[in-house]
Amino acid sequence: MIGEPRLHEPECESTQLLLLGSGLPEGAVATTDHQTGGRGRLGRTWAEAPGTAVLLSVLLRPPAERRAPELTLVAAIAVALSVEDATGLAAQIRWPNDVMLARRKVAGILAELRGSEVVVGIGLNVNQAREELPADARTPAASLRTVTGHEHDRAALLESVLARLDDGYAAWRSDGLEALYDDLGSRDFLRGRRVRHEGEEAVATMIDRAGRLVLELPTGERRAVESGEIELVGET
Ligand code: BTN
Repeated sequence: MIGEPRLHEPECESTQLLLLGSGLPEGAVATTDHQTGGRGRLGRTWAEAPGTAVLLSVLLRPPAERRAPELTLVAAIAVALSVEDATGLAAQIRWPNDVMLARRKVAGILAELRGSEVVVGIGLNVNQAREELPADARTPAASLRTVTGHEHDRAALLESVLARLDDGYAAWRSDGLEALYDDLGSRDFLRGRRVRHEGEEAVATMIDRAGRLVLELPTGERRAVESGEIELVGET
């Protein structure tokens, strides 16, 4: 059960650090109102104005037969569904770890693997004003507030994300990504877009049923990639 036990620190360096190597049971959740050293993907930082975001980490011990990196997508689906519930707008998933609203990033997911444990961290921009969002982010950022024009209840959003994640993780544990594929494929932000991956230009055609991004190269060759940075070509 995701959310048992729960730890809340008004401020901490990173909620990831409250769970990594903690020995807590699977499903433990750490939350905070402000991080002083928030961690992003690929060694980047994740910063927010205090009290404006939903910041959480979840400790999971997935079964050995599952592909742990898929948990980033499992979490992204949960966040996208919660964002849709809260805003009434369609959210998308920008492979591999971003949740998009109105073509801007409103949430990022960071999955850190330690042996058989995975700590999945979620940062969801909720009530930041435009000037509180990073202006120079690689992917333009938004908050639910900047998109909808009003503030949202962070506590309710946290509960919604935990409930969606609990459902999604249970389905993924028993049936893998296949169980969630409809929710994922229909929210694929990159589908049909021109992208660059490791210096090569391609068209992103789909997220496949193993959670890989399928690229079509100018030669017509199709290649499924499992990780790496995807830049948009010719648009932001
Ligand atoms: C990214 O987009 O690069 C991933 C960002 C993940 C941020 C969240 S906030 C809660 C948790 N604690 C962290 O230090 N990072 C994740």
